[in-house]
Amino acid sequence: MNGQKGILALETVALDEEEPAVVIIDQTKLPGRTQLIRLRSAQEIWDAIYLLKVRGAPAIGVAAAFGIYVLARQIGTEDYDAFLAEFRKLKAYLDSARPTAVNLSWALNRMERVAVSHPEETVGEILCLLRKEALAIKEEDTRVCQSIGEYGLGLLKPGDGILTHCNAGQLATSRYGTATAPIYLGQERGYGFRVFADETRPLLQGARLTAYELHSAGVDVTLICDNMASMVMKNGWINAVFVGCDRVAANGDAANKIGTSGVAVLAGHYHIPFYVCAPTSTIDLSTPSGADIRIEQRPEEEVTQMWYKERMAPEGIKVYNPAFDVTDHSLISGIVTEYGVARAPYGEAFEEIFRKKEAADGNLQCKIK
Ligand code: MRU
Repeated sequence: MNGQKGILALETVALDEEEPAVVIIDQTKLPGRTQLIRLRSAQEIWDAIYLLKVRGAPAIGVAAAFGIYVLARQIGTEDYDAFLAEFRKLKAYLDSARPTAVNLSWALNRMERVAVSHPEETVGEILCLLRKEALAIKEEDTRVCQSIGEYGLGLLKPGDGILTHCNAGQLATSRYGTATAPIYLGQERGYGFRVFADETRPLLQGARLTAYELHSAGVDVTLICDNMASMVMKNGWINAVFVGCDRVAANGDAANKIGTSGVAVLAGHYHIPFYVCAPTSTIDLSTPSGADIRIEQRPEEEVTQMWYKERMAPEGIKVYNPAFDVTDHSLISGIVTEYGVARAPYGEAFEEIFRKKEAADGNLQCKIK
Protein backbone atom coordinates (compact mmCIF):
# COMPACT_ATOMS: atom_id res chain seq x y z
CA MET A 1 0.00 0.00 0.00
CA ASN A 2 1.27 3.46 -0.81
CA GLY A 3 0.17 6.98 0.01
CA GLN A 4 -0.73 8.89 3.13
CA LYS A 5 -4.39 8.21 3.84
CA GLY A 6 -4.05 4.68 5.14
CA ILE A 7 -1.24 5.08 7.65
CA LEU A 8 -3.39 5.98 10.68
CA ALA A 9 -5.87 3.24 9.87
CA LEU A 10 -3.13 0.62 10.19
CA GLU A 11 -2.03 -0.93 13.46
CA THR A 12 1.53 -0.12 14.48
CA VAL A 13 1.86 -3.56 16.11
CA ALA A 14 -0.60 -6.43 15.79
CA LEU A 15 -0.81 -10.11 16.64
CA ASP A 16 -1.66 -12.61 13.94
CA GLU A 17 -3.26 -15.31 16.06
CA GLU A 18 -3.45 -17.87 13.28
CA GLU A 19 0.21 -18.17 12.46
CA PRO A 20 1.10 -16.90 15.13
CA ALA A 21 3.30 -13.89 14.29
CA VAL A 22 3.88 -10.30 15.31
CA VAL A 23 2.83 -7.98 12.49
CA ILE A 24 4.37 -4.51 12.31
CA ILE A 25 4.56 -1.60 9.92
CA ASP A 26 8.23 -1.50 8.88
CA GLN A 27 8.94 2.08 9.99
CA THR A 28 12.33 2.20 8.27
CA LYS A 29 10.45 2.26 4.94
CA LEU A 30 8.16 5.19 5.80
CA PRO A 31 7.03 7.51 4.40
CA GLY A 32 7.88 6.20 0.93
CA ARG A 33 6.50 2.70 1.34
CA THR A 34 3.97 1.23 3.74
CA GLN A 35 4.98 -2.36 4.24
CA LEU A 36 3.62 -4.75 6.84
CA ILE A 37 6.08 -7.42 7.95
CA ARG A 38 5.60 -10.57 10.01
CA LEU A 39 7.99 -11.57 12.77
CA ARG A 40 8.12 -15.20 13.86
CA SER A 41 11.57 -16.02 15.20
CA ALA A 42 13.50 -14.56 18.14
CA GLN A 43 16.10 -13.21 15.73
CA GLU A 44 13.45 -11.47 13.58
CA ILE A 45 11.83 -9.84 16.61
CA TRP A 46 15.17 -8.75 18.08
CA ASP A 47 16.33 -7.32 14.74
CA ALA A 48 13.04 -5.45 14.20
CA ILE A 49 13.46 -3.73 17.58
CA TYR A 50 17.19 -3.05 17.20
CA LEU A 51 16.87 -1.76 13.64
CA LEU A 52 13.90 0.49 14.60
CA LYS A 53 11.46 -1.25 12.28
CA VAL A 54 9.25 -1.00 15.33
CA ARG A 55 10.23 1.83 17.66
CA GLY A 56 8.99 4.26 20.26
CA ALA A 57 8.90 3.09 23.88
CA PRO A 58 5.25 1.90 24.14
CA ALA A 59 5.28 0.21 20.70
CA ILE A 60 8.49 -1.62 21.61
CA GLY A 61 6.76 -2.85 24.78
CA VAL A 62 3.75 -4.15 22.85
CA ALA A 63 5.98 -5.80 20.21
CA ALA A 64 8.01 -7.51 22.94
CA ALA A 65 4.85 -8.76 24.70
CA PHE A 66 3.44 -10.20 21.46
CA GLY A 67 6.93 -11.44 20.57
CA ILE A 68 7.52 -13.42 23.75
CA TYR A 69 4.03 -14.93 23.43
CA VAL A 70 4.72 -16.03 19.84
CA LEU A 71 8.06 -17.52 20.92
CA ALA A 72 6.56 -19.19 24.00
CA ARG A 73 4.16 -21.03 21.70
CA GLN A 74 7.18 -22.53 19.93
CA ILE A 75 8.88 -23.85 23.09
CA GLY A 76 7.37 -27.29 22.67
CA THR A 77 7.46 -28.88 26.11
CA GLU A 78 4.75 -29.78 28.59
CA ASP A 79 7.19 -29.64 31.50
CA TYR A 80 6.71 -26.41 33.49
CA ASP A 81 10.31 -26.02 34.69
CA ALA A 82 11.74 -26.65 31.22
CA PHE A 83 9.19 -24.21 29.75
CA LEU A 84 10.06 -21.48 32.26
CA ALA A 85 13.81 -21.91 31.75
CA GLU A 86 13.43 -21.51 27.97
CA PHE A 87 10.97 -18.62 28.40
CA ARG A 88 13.52 -16.78 30.54
CA LYS A 89 16.28 -17.27 27.97
CA LEU A 90 14.07 -15.82 25.24
CA LYS A 91 13.00 -12.96 27.48
CA ALA A 92 16.63 -12.03 28.25
CA TYR A 93 17.45 -12.11 24.55
CA LEU A 94 14.59 -9.79 23.53
CA ASP A 95 15.36 -7.51 26.46
CA SER A 96 18.90 -7.00 25.13
CA ALA A 97 17.70 -5.39 21.88
CA ARG A 98 17.63 -1.80 23.19
CA PRO A 99 18.61 -0.55 26.67
CA THR A 100 17.05 2.89 27.20
CA ALA A 101 13.29 2.51 26.75
CA VAL A 102 12.11 0.93 30.00
CA ASN A 103 8.87 -0.27 28.35
CA LEU A 104 10.80 -3.15 26.80
CA SER A 105 11.75 -4.74 30.13
CA TRP A 106 8.51 -3.51 31.74
CA ALA A 107 6.39 -5.47 29.23
CA LEU A 108 8.64 -8.55 29.34
CA ASN A 109 8.57 -8.54 33.16
CA ARG A 110 4.78 -8.39 33.08
CA MET A 111 4.74 -11.40 30.78
CA GLU A 112 7.24 -13.29 32.96
CA ARG A 113 5.12 -12.64 36.07
CA VAL A 114 2.23 -14.43 34.36
CA ALA A 115 4.38 -17.48 33.62
CA VAL A 116 5.94 -17.52 37.10
CA SER A 117 2.75 -17.06 39.08
CA HIS A 118 0.90 -20.06 37.61
CA PRO A 119 3.14 -23.08 38.29
CA GLU A 120 0.07 -25.22 38.96
CA GLU A 121 -1.31 -24.69 35.44
CA THR A 122 -0.49 -26.71 32.33
CA VAL A 123 1.80 -25.11 29.74
CA GLY A 124 -1.27 -24.84 27.48
CA GLU A 125 -3.10 -22.81 30.14
CA ILE A 126 -0.08 -20.59 30.69
CA LEU A 127 0.05 -19.86 26.96
CA CYS A 128 -3.59 -18.74 27.10
CA LEU A 129 -2.77 -16.43 30.02
CA LEU A 130 0.27 -15.03 28.20
CA ARG A 131 -1.87 -14.26 25.15
CA LYS A 132 -4.39 -12.48 27.36
CA GLU A 133 -1.69 -10.42 29.07
CA ALA A 134 -0.06 -9.38 25.77
CA LEU A 135 -3.41 -8.25 24.36
CA ALA A 136 -4.12 -6.37 27.62
CA ILE A 137 -0.78 -4.52 27.35
CA LYS A 138 -1.75 -3.30 23.90
CA GLU A 139 -5.31 -2.41 24.83
CA GLU A 140 -4.16 -0.51 27.93
CA ASP A 141 -1.71 1.48 25.81
CA THR A 142 -4.54 2.92 23.71
CA ARG A 143 -6.51 3.96 26.82
CA VAL A 144 -3.39 5.42 28.45
CA CYS A 145 -2.53 7.51 25.37
CA GLN A 146 -6.08 8.82 25.16
CA SER A 147 -5.96 9.87 28.80
CA ILE A 148 -2.56 11.56 28.33
CA GLY A 149 -4.19 13.38 25.42
CA GLU A 150 -6.97 14.74 27.63
CA TYR A 151 -4.57 15.96 30.32
CA GLY A 152 -2.24 17.40 27.69
CA LEU A 153 -5.08 19.20 25.94
CA GLY A 154 -5.91 20.88 29.25
CA LEU A 155 -2.50 22.61 29.04
CA LEU A 156 -3.22 24.14 25.63
CA LYS A 157 -5.57 26.67 24.08
CA PRO A 158 -7.03 26.91 20.58
CA GLY A 159 -4.61 28.21 17.95
CA ASP A 160 -1.48 27.32 19.97
CA GLY A 161 1.82 26.62 18.28
CA ILE A 162 3.37 23.35 19.48
CA LEU A 163 6.86 22.06 18.89
CA THR A 164 7.66 18.35 19.10
CA HIS A 165 10.84 16.32 18.71
CA CYS A 166 11.28 12.78 17.33
CA ASN A 167 8.14 10.68 16.99
CA ALA A 168 5.98 10.12 20.04
CA GLY A 169 3.01 9.61 17.75
CA GLN A 170 0.64 6.82 16.83
CA LEU A 171 3.55 5.06 15.13
CA ALA A 172 5.30 4.87 18.52
CA THR A 173 2.26 3.49 20.37
CA SER A 174 -0.92 1.51 19.78
CA ARG A 175 -2.96 4.63 19.04
CA TYR A 176 -2.91 8.45 19.40
CA GLY A 177 0.73 8.58 20.54
CA THR A 178 1.76 10.30 23.75
CA ALA A 179 3.09 13.76 22.77
CA THR A 180 0.76 13.77 19.76
CA ALA A 181 -2.34 12.66 21.68
CA PRO A 182 -3.32 16.23 22.70
CA ILE A 183 -2.74 17.26 19.08
CA TYR A 184 -5.04 14.54 17.70
CA LEU A 185 -7.74 15.25 20.29
CA GLY A 186 -7.42 18.99 19.60
CA GLN A 187 -7.74 18.29 15.89
CA GLU A 188 -10.99 16.37 16.50
CA ARG A 189 -12.31 19.30 18.57
CA GLY A 190 -11.34 22.13 16.23
CA TYR A 191 -8.46 23.62 18.25
CA GLY A 192 -6.56 24.60 15.11
CA PHE A 193 -3.08 23.90 16.45
CA ARG A 194 0.01 24.77 14.43
CA VAL A 195 2.61 22.07 14.95
CA PHE A 196 6.34 22.30 14.26
CA ALA A 197 8.10 18.94 13.92
CA ASP A 198 11.88 18.76 14.40
CA GLU A 199 13.32 16.49 11.72
CA THR A 200 15.37 14.67 14.42
CA ARG A 201 18.81 13.79 13.19
CA PRO A 202 20.29 11.30 12.62
CA LEU A 203 17.40 8.87 11.97
CA LEU A 204 14.82 11.49 10.97
CA GLN A 205 11.87 10.15 12.98
CA GLY A 206 10.42 13.68 12.99
CA ALA A 207 10.56 14.07 9.21
CA ARG A 208 9.76 10.50 8.22
CA LEU A 209 7.16 9.68 10.87
CA THR A 210 5.79 12.65 12.83
CA ALA A 211 5.41 14.97 9.85
CA TYR A 212 3.92 12.07 7.90
CA GLU A 213 1.33 10.94 10.41
CA LEU A 214 0.22 14.45 11.45
CA HIS A 215 -0.01 15.58 7.82
CA SER A 216 -2.06 12.45 7.04
CA ALA A 217 -4.46 13.43 9.84
CA GLY A 218 -4.88 16.90 8.35
CA VAL A 219 -2.99 18.67 11.16
CA ASP A 220 -1.28 21.96 10.25
CA VAL A 221 2.30 20.71 10.58
CA THR A 222 5.54 22.38 9.49
CA LEU A 223 8.76 20.41 9.27
CA ILE A 224 11.93 22.11 10.51
CA CYS A 225 15.55 21.03 10.81
CA ASP A 226 16.63 20.54 14.42
CA ASN A 227 18.77 23.67 14.33
CA MET A 228 15.72 25.82 13.48
CA ALA A 229 13.92 25.26 16.79
CA SER A 230 15.50 28.33 18.35
CA MET A 231 14.37 30.49 15.42
CA VAL A 232 10.71 29.43 15.54
CA MET A 233 10.69 29.99 19.29
CA LYS A 234 12.24 33.43 18.94
CA ASN A 235 9.66 34.24 16.27
CA GLY A 236 6.98 33.68 18.91
CA TRP A 237 5.42 30.78 17.04
CA ILE A 238 5.66 28.23 19.86
CA ASN A 239 3.39 28.26 22.93
CA ALA A 240 4.39 24.86 24.28
CA VAL A 241 6.75 21.97 23.64
CA PHE A 242 5.42 18.41 23.90
CA VAL A 243 7.79 15.43 23.72
CA GLY A 244 7.61 11.75 24.57
CA CYS A 245 10.13 9.85 26.63
CA ASP A 246 11.82 6.49 27.01
CA ARG A 247 12.49 6.43 30.74
CA VAL A 248 11.69 8.84 33.53
CA ALA A 249 13.86 8.55 36.65
CA ALA A 250 12.46 8.87 40.18
CA ASN A 251 13.64 12.50 40.40
CA GLY A 252 11.85 13.51 37.16
CA ASP A 253 14.89 13.48 34.85
CA ALA A 254 13.66 12.16 31.50
CA ALA A 255 15.54 10.30 28.75
CA ASN A 256 14.21 10.90 25.24
CA LYS A 257 15.52 11.05 21.68
CA ILE A 258 18.86 12.78 21.29
CA GLY A 259 18.31 16.52 20.94
CA THR A 260 15.42 16.71 23.38
CA SER A 261 17.46 18.25 26.20
CA GLY A 262 18.69 20.96 23.82
CA VAL A 263 15.08 21.81 22.95
CA ALA A 264 14.31 22.00 26.70
CA VAL A 265 17.19 24.43 27.24
CA LEU A 266 15.91 26.61 24.40
CA ALA A 267 12.34 26.47 25.73
CA GLY A 268 13.63 27.57 29.13
CA HIS A 269 15.45 30.50 27.53
CA TYR A 270 12.31 31.66 25.72
CA HIS A 271 10.02 30.95 28.72
CA ILE A 272 8.02 28.35 26.79
CA PRO A 273 6.50 25.50 28.83
CA PHE A 274 8.19 22.18 28.16
CA TYR A 275 6.05 19.06 28.77
CA VAL A 276 7.14 15.44 28.76
CA CYS A 277 4.38 12.92 28.05
CA ALA A 278 4.95 9.64 29.86
CA PRO A 279 2.69 6.69 30.57
CA THR A 280 3.32 5.33 34.08
CA SER A 281 4.92 2.32 32.33
CA THR A 282 7.76 4.70 31.34
CA ILE A 283 8.33 5.99 34.89
CA ASP A 284 11.07 3.90 36.45
CA LEU A 285 11.15 4.54 40.19
CA SER A 286 14.04 2.09 40.58
CA THR A 287 16.29 4.50 38.66
CA PRO A 288 17.13 7.35 41.05
CA SER A 289 18.23 9.99 38.52
CA GLY A 290 19.02 10.58 34.87
CA ALA A 291 22.69 9.81 35.54
CA ASP A 292 21.64 6.19 36.20
CA ILE A 293 19.87 5.76 32.84
CA ARG A 294 21.82 3.69 30.32
CA ILE A 295 22.03 5.58 27.03
CA GLU A 296 22.06 3.52 23.87
CA GLN A 297 25.00 4.15 21.54
CA ARG A 298 24.27 3.48 17.86
CA PRO A 299 26.49 2.70 14.84
CA GLU A 300 28.45 5.57 13.31
CA GLU A 301 26.97 4.89 9.84
CA GLU A 302 23.72 6.42 11.06
CA VAL A 303 25.51 9.77 11.23
CA THR A 304 27.86 9.53 8.28
CA GLN A 305 25.80 7.93 5.54
CA MET A 306 22.42 6.52 6.43
CA TRP A 307 19.58 8.48 4.74
CA TYR A 308 22.07 10.30 2.52
CA LYS A 309 22.44 9.49 -1.17
CA GLU A 310 26.14 9.06 -0.57
CA ARG A 311 28.50 9.20 2.40
CA MET A 312 28.60 12.73 3.82
CA ALA A 313 31.57 12.53 6.16
CA PRO A 314 35.25 11.67 5.65
CA GLU A 315 36.22 8.01 5.88
CA GLY A 316 37.74 7.20 9.25
CA ILE A 317 36.23 10.19 11.06
CA LYS A 318 35.47 9.68 14.76
CA VAL A 319 31.71 9.68 15.42
CA TYR A 320 29.73 9.95 18.65
CA ASN A 321 26.16 8.72 18.22
CA PRO A 322 24.12 8.51 21.45
CA ALA A 323 20.49 7.71 20.61
CA PHE A 324 19.04 9.52 23.65
CA ASP A 325 19.81 12.31 26.07
CA VAL A 326 18.49 13.16 29.49
CA THR A 327 16.53 16.34 30.16
CA ASP A 328 17.11 17.59 33.66
CA HIS A 329 13.92 17.76 35.72
CA SER A 330 14.58 21.45 36.38
CA LEU A 331 13.84 22.13 32.69
CA ILE A 332 10.54 20.23 32.67
CA SER A 333 7.31 22.16 33.34
CA GLY A 334 5.28 18.99 33.86
CA ILE A 335 5.19 15.26 33.13
CA VAL A 336 1.85 14.34 31.58
CA THR A 337 0.74 10.85 32.63
CA GLU A 338 -2.53 8.97 32.24
CA TYR A 339 -3.35 9.93 35.85
CA GLY A 340 -2.68 13.65 35.57
CA VAL A 341 0.17 16.12 35.23
CA ALA A 342 3.05 15.59 37.66
CA ARG A 343 4.98 18.71 38.61
CA ALA A 344 8.07 19.29 40.77
CA PRO A 345 8.88 18.06 43.35
CA TYR A 346 8.59 14.90 41.27
CA GLY A 347 9.16 12.43 44.11
CA GLU A 348 5.92 13.49 45.80
CA ALA A 349 4.08 13.97 42.51
CA PHE A 350 4.91 10.40 41.39
CA GLU A 351 3.73 9.01 44.74
CA GLU A 352 0.38 10.63 44.09
CA ILE A 353 0.25 9.42 40.47
CA PHE A 354 1.02 5.82 41.49
CA ARG A 355 -1.55 6.00 44.32
CA LYS A 356 -4.15 6.89 41.69
CA LYS A 357 -2.93 4.07 39.47
CA GLU A 358 -3.15 1.51 42.28
CA ALA A 359 -6.68 2.67 43.13
CA ALA A 360 -7.72 2.42 39.46
CA ASP A 361 -6.11 -1.05 39.10
CA GLY A 362 -7.91 -2.15 42.28
CA ASN A 363 -11.26 -0.94 40.93
CA LEU A 364 -10.62 -2.76 37.67
CA GLN A 365 -9.84 -6.04 39.51
CA CYS A 366 -13.12 -5.68 41.44
CA LYS A 367 -15.05 -5.20 38.17
CA ILE A 368 -13.38 -8.25 36.58
CA LYS A 369 -14.23 -10.42 39.63
O1 MRU B 1 14.86 5.60 18.82
P1 MRU B 1 13.37 5.73 18.85
O2 MRU B 1 12.78 6.16 17.54
O3 MRU B 1 12.71 4.47 19.39
O4 MRU B 1 13.10 6.90 19.90
C1 MRU B 1 11.77 7.20 20.21
C2 MRU B 1 11.63 8.33 21.15
O5 MRU B 1 12.58 8.90 21.61
C3 MRU B 1 10.23 8.65 21.59
O6 MRU B 1 10.09 10.01 21.85
C4 MRU B 1 9.88 7.87 22.86
O7 MRU B 1 10.15 6.51 22.69
C5 MRU B 1 8.47 8.06 23.26
S1 MRU B 1 7.34 7.28 22.15
C6 MRU B 1 5.76 7.57 22.73
